[in-house]
Amino acid sequence: VTVHLVGAGPGDPGLITARGLELVRGCDVLIHDALVSPELVAEAPDDALVISRERLRQEAIDELLVAYGRAGLDVVRLKGGDPFVFGRGGEEAQALAEAGVSFTVTPGVSSIAAVPASALIPITHRGVSDRVTIASARGADGEEPDYASLVDGRGTIVLFMGLERLPVLAKGLVAAGLDPSTPASVVSNGTLPEQETVTGRIDEIAELSADLATPALVVVGDVVEVGARLRDAAMAREVPAVP
Ligand SMILES: C[S@@+](CC[C@H](N)C(=O)[O-])C[C@H]1O[C@@H](n2cnc3c(N)ncnc32)[C@H](O)[C@@H]1O
Repeated sequence: VTVHLVGAGPGDPGLITARGLELVRGCDVLIHDALVSPELVAEAPDDALVISRERLRQEAIDELLVAYGRAGLDVVRLKGGDPFVFGRGGEEAQALAEAGVSFTVTPGVSSIAAVPASALIPITHRGVSDRVTIASARGADGEEPDYASLVDGRGTIVLFMGLERLPVLAKGLVAAGLDPSTPASVVSNGTLPEQETVTGRIDEIAELSADLATPALVVVGDVVEVGARLRDAAMAREVPAVP
């Protein structure tokens, strides 16, 4: 095995898995996403070749993975969160499989779990929400999400990559039948010291969160109120709500 697709976790460097960290510490080549913590990149051996994917197109990354893999080097492709959750890890795995290069996948703590949790929002909660629909704010060709199916799901809705398009997304959800008073939270920089959470009605959340920074996750549904109550309780007891 030469190429390892590894999840780095959602931001806090402490949230990589033990196996992921071991692979980073033993690699010859590290190709990492821009969102990956610098502390984790610094864990690569001093003589490892370290490449940030920032200015590389997806095709170029696939080619590098195949080329270094074929050369028999230990390659770690370190990706934000989990490699297979909106991370194009599936495409990289396909490119490697088609090229006949062996690979492994080491899951990561995805922001779908970690970011709401770090704002104390339980995305499922007995008697409040028994399902979660996760969606990208934009399709592969830039198309709008299927608002009707998101609203039909009735449980919690979690939107990735949605902060910049929140005015359009919120209007789309309400037009598809979501009650305009449905609570929503936007969690920016989840699990990091600069984490910020803004909460309000879905029809006002875009305005309220206009100054937040990316990356941000949008959580919609009644679990948001459970989160707000937990944060209040944590603050009242002087327990830090976020690390
Ligand atoms: C390209 S996707 C990658 C998701 C990643 N593979 C995962 O499993 O979390 C990037 C999006 O994930 C969300 N995200 C990732 N890290 C985040 C964080 N620390 N705080 C809030 N949202 C985050 C944001 O919606 C961001 O636009």
